[in-house]
Amino acid sequence: MTALNEPLPPPVPSKAFLDRLALRRSAPAQALTTPGPSQAELDHILALGARTPDHGKLFPWRFVVLGPQSRAEIASRLASLVELRNGPAKDQAVLAKLTAAPVTILVVSSPVPGAKPIWEQQLSAGAVCMNLEHAAGGFGYSASWITDWYSYDPQALPLFGVGEGESVAGFIHIGTLNEPALERPRPEMSAKVTRLP
Ligand SMILES: Cc1cc2nc3c(=O)[nH]c(=O)nc-3n(C[C@H](O)[C@H](O)[C@H](O)COP(=O)(O)O)c2cc1C
Repeated sequence: MTALNEPLPPPVPSKAFLDRLALRRSAPAQALTTPGPSQAELDHILALGARTPDHGKLFPWRFVVLGPQSRAEIASRLASLVELRNGPAKDQAVLAKLTAAPVTILVVSSPVPGAKPIWEQQLSAGAVCMNLEHAAGGFGYSASWITDWYSYDPQALPLFGVGEGESVAGFIHIGTLNEPALERPRPEMSAKVTRLP
């Protein structure tokens, strides 16, 4: 752990790092299987995920680590919710994504009221999600960032301990992909970049 105000080394050029960024891809959540991160690796992944910019040093997010047992229990209660509200079959089908991976980190956006703009605090939670995926990749695991209907359902959120004023930034499922990831369309950069002199 680096001490507070200790000088940090400057970034060094790293082709391996650039190659990783150039080839990184999310995994389909259902295709994530064992092995998953060990407890020590998971702690490391969480610490790296938390090393994320936020305006005001508010750390406006928190983690819920969900193992297979808690996810299975929650998924069965979510299945009852789908039935209760006569939800579409798709709502039931996507529950398979919640339970497949060896481990899941729920990133909860937990903005501090009256501090910096809420939007900025939520952006920071999104950055945490991306950092978690990178950190998982650094340990050789694949990851998937999912929300799905239960991230927005007021009856579902308490099952995950998401409280008033909080929202789900993402479920980051982590494990090993037992098939190659396939490239997907990427944007035409000229349509996305404006250059000003
Ligand atoms: C905030 C957020 C929520 C997402 N929710 C879902 C979801 O509920 N279901 C899904 O299939 N994909 C979802 N995705 C998309 C997956 O993460 C997708 O596989 C990924 O964006 C693929 O991009 P990549 O290959 O560049 O990683 C979500 C992505 C983000 C950023």
